[in-house]
Amino acid sequence: MFDALDFIEQSKKELIEKIDDIAIIACSGGVDSTVAAVIAAQAVGGLLHCVYVDTGFMRKNETEEIEKLLAEQDINLVTVKAADRYFEALKGVTEPEQKRKVIGELFIRIFEDEQKKCGAKYLVQGTIAPDWIESGGGVRDTIKSHHNVGGLPEDMTLIVVEPLRDLYKDEVRELARALEINVAERQPFPGPGLAVRTLGDLTPERVEVVRESCAIVEEEFEKAAAEGLMEIPWQYFAALLPVRSVGVHGDVRAYGETIVVRAVQSMDGMSARYSEIPHSVLQKISTRITNKLKGAVNRVVYDITHKPPGTIEWE
Ligand code: XMP
Repeated sequence: MFDALDFIEQSKKELIEKIDDIAIIACSGGVDSTVAAVIAAQAVGGLLHCVYVDTGFMRKNETEEIEKLLAEQDINLVTVKAADRYFEALKGVTEPEQKRKVIGELFIRIFEDEQKKCGAKYLVQGTIAPDWIESGGGVRDTIKSHHNVGGLPEDMTLIVVEPLRDLYKDEVRELARALEINVAERQPFPGPGLAVRTLGDLTPERVEVVRESCAIVEEEFEKAAAEGLMEIPWQYFAALLPVRSVGVHGDVRAYGETIVVRAVQSMDGMSARYSEIPHSVLQKISTRITNKLKGAVNRVVYDITHKPPGTIEWE
């Protein structure tokens, strides 16, 4: 039986022992990195410098929400606006593993710049067990090099500290509840963000299509769940496929791309079942997306694949 308070106390003791100098943490606002940041800040206080990188692949309004949340915890935060650097580095990169590598490396480079500024010696990360197991750290072949693992370059000079390394998602959520931080019920969001939900070329315009579509999916699912029409899935989002199809708006022919809606039920992300969503909800999503993104998207499909064989994200 997992004891959250006991884990937090143990973890703080270990962090105090390990961290004897300035530490830096990348906080994305997700459950894992926020819990790691709060525990580390409680352990080493002012030695911790928290950096939030706005990659340009965050969800709608996410940057403002994250800044507010961390400020409430009295965490020392720097926001780095790096969208232009990411889009530049990813020009022409469409292969998913390559994309993750480029994103991971740039992430660490930005960190190294911040490290130089604050003189950090340690890098605290919110890596959890499924991240490294699926990145080939265990007995399995590499499925995806997850952002906080596979992207680390060999010449990295920071000492990595991973307080949540042996935990699964439900345990990290328990920690968030015990710490009374408002992230426990947030759905998981991949480190590389909307970049792995934008299949094909990464342009600001295409990522914006995904951002708007994800916001619509979130809004409609949360509204339907509040009205008792469905249970809220464990994770739910939209991805953009570089597949164009013919459509019609009024009497004008359209040739737009495809949005796939994905919603799954899962315990820990290691396996998942696609969620059965009422057709009325899917239909509203389809109408809103095709109206809002006229010209860019003219077809919306729903993914009915479990994990395995599909992964939760499309890349
Ligand atoms: P997959 O797509 O591999 O994802 O079935 C399992 C869970 O992990 C999330 N995910 C990530 N989380 N960095 C993360 O921290 C990543 O690079 C990453 N890729 C996927 C995914 O959203 C799902 O919840």
